[in-house]
Amino acid sequence: MKKVAIAATAAFLVSGPALAGPDEDNLIINDEQQMVTETAAPAHLENVKTIYSGWRFRTDETQALQLDDFDNPAMIFVDQAMDLFNTVDGSEGKSCASCHEGPEQFAGLSATMPKVMNGKLTTMEDFINGHRAEAMGAEPWKWSGADMQAMVALIGLQSRGMPMNVAIDGEAAPYWEQGKEMYYTRYGQLELSCANCHEDNYGMMIRADHLSQGQINGFPTYRLKQAKLISRHNRFRGCIRDTRAHTFAEGSDEFRALELYVASRSNGLSVETPAVRQ
Ligand code: HEC
Ligand code: HEC
Repeated sequence: MKKVAIAATAAFLVSGPALAGPDEDNLIINDEQQMVTETAAPAHLENVKTIYSGWRFRTDETQALQLDDFDNPAMIFVDQAMDLFNTVDGSEGKSCASCHEGPEQFAGLSATMPKVMNGKLTTMEDFINGHRAEAMGAEPWKWSGADMQAMVALIGLQSRGMPMNVAIDGEAAPYWEQGKEMYYTRYGQLELSCANCHEDNYGMMIRADHLSQGQINGFPTYRLKQAKLISRHNRFRGCIRDTRAHTFAEGSDEFRALELYVASRSNGLSVETPAVRQ
């Protein structure tokens, strides 16, 4: 089985001459906030010694956009989310600001998400829509919609620079196991798992892309190609589709579990939300 996977992966990969790993660049945002883009892998990772932020695999031009908030194209959406935070919506005549002083009060929260709450694995999107329904009487936002991902980015920004630290034990354990199994499952005609690309072959070139470890510490990320914020589940969907497989829906229980597992592979890296990618 392993041989088949390696052959399929090899057919897909074109190794660039000197590109066999992350670069040595140092991410300091706004000349003051030092990010941890490389650290020892969390103990649960068996096949990887060091974890790297996806930022370390991008070109100098793309990297530069994340160095200063004035250059970061995601910040427009964060500003829009700040307006949304203060906008009344729904049958109760309330805005987020009616009950919350400001997004600063959520500092640290995104570094621990997703997590189990009331017996259910809960993502930031779930949290926001739950609140809109219960506290505001407002319509839910679409998972990867502009309003939703802008709000996820605004709340995520409050944790920027803090280490990712999702729990994988206790009530989270069964979800984590499910996500782990998905990570090592080969999908599609190409029979490729997440691990085949992001664990076995990071640092290699795949088409025009420098393959990273597929970390999610920078999400939602602004993708230059799409000129908008991309959700974690949208990225998972795209990667599975590239293996020519049927994929899961955004907001499905499968992708919640996968999100928990992938987030746990980032434990120790700084939250970089909102990051910038090609
Ligand atoms: C009617 C009041 C009310 C409104 C309106 C409201 N919230 Fe909340 N929110 C609360 C209360 C009370 C809590 C704390 C209890 C809890 O965790 O459920 C909370 C907790 C939260 C938390 C989790 C904090 C934590 O550390 O666990 C987030 C995130 C959040 N709210 C976001 C929002 C956003 C975004 C909006 C607007 C879309 C919003 N809330 C609107 C009352 C409200
Ligand atoms: C055929 C190879 C391939 C497979 C299989 C694959 N990916 Fe990817 N993935 C890519 C490429 C190429 C990119 C864009 C370059 C990069 O960031 O690595 C990417 C990007 C990502 C990113 C964005 C990383 C960042 O820093 O912005 C995440 C997250 C991700 N993949 C997760 C997954 C998950 C989870 C799976 C399994 C469901 C998966 N990928 C399967 C090739 C793959």
